[in-house]
Amino acid sequence: MTKVSININGEKYSEDVEDRTLLVHFIRDHARLRGTHIGCDTGHCGACTVLLNDRPVKSCQILAVQADGESVETVESLEGSDGKLSIEQEAFRDHFAMQCGYCTSGFLMMTHHLIREYPELSREEIREKLHGNYCMCTGYQQIVDAVQDAQKKFNEKK
Ligand code: FES
Ligand code: FES
Repeated sequence: MTKVSININGEKYSEDVEDRTLLVHFIRDHARLRGTHIGCDTGHCGACTVLLNDRPVKSCQILAVQADGESVETVESLEGSDGKLSIEQEAFRDHFAMQCGYCTSGFLMMTHHLIREYPELSREEIREKLHGNYCMCTGYQQIVDAVQDAQKKFNEKK
């Protein structure tokens, strides 16, 4: 067992964990933040995407011990303290960019990252940047619409 401390959404979580514990399991089972999903466990689907020190990562591909002392943001960080939805969440709602919702937290965290890092992404580039996130329901069109809308609203707010 190894003591691991990770700052998740501004709160410090410290636990003794087995060395093989994945970051996604630390987030879901130790921090009890269940918005981050496990779709495949093999690094393909992107349902487990979170931000690690502001960079998107697939949390099923990282050990919790590798994130010791680092900062993680999960989908729970998006909603404001007043319960107001974030720009990304509103865009996904407004464009019907989810059906079962299993993939959605991963897409939201990617969107959160993309609209801050790349203010002028074309539809083609959005598709390219989202190639590591799978959705079995929507056909992606509405997801690209939502990312474009979130990007526009984020740029207008700057
Ligand atoms: S659960 Fe991590 S990529 Fe699918
Ligand atoms: S909304 Fe069902 S997998 Fe994307």
